[in-house]
Amino acid sequence: MQEILQQLAEKRAAARAGGGKRRIDAQHGKGRLTARERIELLLDPDSFEEWDMFVEHRSSDFGMSAQKVPGDGVVTGYGTINGRLVFIFSQDFTVFGGSLSEAHAEKICKVMDQAMRVGAPVIGINDSGGARIQEGVASLAGYAEVFQRNILASGVVPQISLVMGPCAGGAVYSPAMTDFIFMVKDSSYMFVTGPDVVKTVTHETVTHEQLGGAVTHSTISGIADLAFEDDVEALMQVRRFFDFLPGSNRGGPPSRPTEDETDRVDYSLDTLIPANPNKPYDMHELIRKVVDEGDFFELQPNYAGNILVGFARVGGSTVGIVANQPMVLAGCLDIDSSRKAARFVRFCDCFNIPILTFVDVPGFLPGTAQEHGAIIKHGAKLLFAYGEATVPKVTVITRKAYGGAYDVMSSKHLRGDVNYAWPTAEIAVMGPKGAVEIIFRADIGDREKLALRTEEYRQKFATPFVAGARGFIDDVIMPHSTRVRICRALAMLKEKRLENPWKKHDNIPL
Ligand code: HXC
Repeated sequence: MQEILQQLAEKRAAARAGGGKRRIDAQHGKGRLTARERIELLLDPDSFEEWDMFVEHRSSDFGMSAQKVPGDGVVTGYGTINGRLVFIFSQDFTVFGGSLSEAHAEKICKVMDQAMRVGAPVIGINDSGGARIQEGVASLAGYAEVFQRNILASGVVPQISLVMGPCAGGAVYSPAMTDFIFMVKDSSYMFVTGPDVVKTVTHETVTHEQLGGAVTHSTISGIADLAFEDDVEALMQVRRFFDFLPGSNRGGPPSRPTEDETDRVDYSLDTLIPANPNKPYDMHELIRKVVDEGDFFELQPNYAGNILVGFARVGGSTVGIVANQPMVLAGCLDIDSSRKAARFVRFCDCFNIPILTFVDVPGFLPGTAQEHGAIIKHGAKLLFAYGEATVPKVTVITRKAYGGAYDVMSSKHLRGDVNYAWPTAEIAVMGPKGAVEIIFRADIGDREKLALRTEEYRQKFATPFVAGARGFIDDVIMPHSTRVRICRALAMLKEKRLENPWKKHDNIPL
């Protein structure tokens, strides 16, 4: 018996050794942790239950029968993060470069299937040279099996990708279909075709980092939600992020006790809005002063900064926050911000997370770049996302809410449940100056008259009371009481039930 136990211990040790010391040292030399070290940091101590440690590939071409490493380049299983269940796969670059074989794909599919059955999120750690070249089409089939599961799991369990090494070619499409992508600076990259192919086809010279590094994807393409300095920071922040997420679409958002009173008022908010309507202010300040303990986990902070999205808690429960940011492009909606916010709103709606919207939007960004880039379709995404969302929706208009952008930003007309405005709100078809120049075009040469008309328009329409008179705004609230009013609204909405008409699925303007 002792011998049998000894054999098992040896087999386990062989699997844990991955590609061996030389390759592990090389991995560390690149500033990267190994697949197992990453799991150890991400999960609660001693919580990891590993599966399929003894799985091996089945290929025999190119001398592969002589090269078998137990586990076949991916570590899979389940564990907990702060006590909550999560399924995980972590590609092991020290084994065949973390490349995906048929068997490697089967291991990933197994944890994804189980996560769906029990209703728990999946975290995938990507660090791979792509399809196992020696396996050919069997590897491509493996990718497609994973893709299919990413699609079926979408909206059922949250899926998070941590890209911590290479991720190229068709392999990028698995992370691309997950809900969130986190990357590590100077260490990870994602692209469909690499720098060599780019050079051949378009004659552009570009580095891996410039083409598809963490900074590129978190600032230019918007593919990545956040870029971290190193593996350790990424894993620690994903632990923090995970706490905001529900396990699946079956339950409500997670909640935890908070010391932050729901009746806390903040008088500094009464002076947040500058006297000059064209002067910006930082919407982060309002968010931090309203949410529990000022804790706002912002996503895509360096991409489409004219809209802010992220998670926070109110009264202990997770809420999704969407807010126009007057500091960037005056808070206008454009292509990038519409796409960014639409995807976030849809995530919240999938997973029963209430949406809290702060509005200060002068309208859609004008220009040929926007029109030719299909702002019509992209703006419609956000409109569609808000309109189809059935989760509790609470909206606070702090200043501008002009034109179509007023409608889009979780207005009453899109089934907003509770819509408040600050007394500084200006809810109208457009700003006073633009409005007067159109309706009093004949007076355009008469500056004095025009100024008079503008002031008249401002007094009459650039207020929350016209909308309030029609019930489009439920109340005009004191800025200092914003947290109190939001807490009460969300408490009232806890048992909200609303269903959309039956359909196979909708046809959001993609
Ligand atoms: C099998 C692979 C591999 C692969 C790397 N290795 N990629 N083995 N299939 N795809 C192995 C190497 O042979 C080597 O083995 C070890 O992993 C480490 O690789 P190195 O090249 O030494 O590492 P590094 O210099 O860091 O370069 C990493 C790399 C490079 C940039 C990822 O390995 C590379 O370019 N690999 C090929 C990438 C590729 O073309 N993949 C297929 C893409 S098509 P030893 O034994 O020496 O340690 C694709 C289609 C997916 O993925 C389609 C889905 C629909």
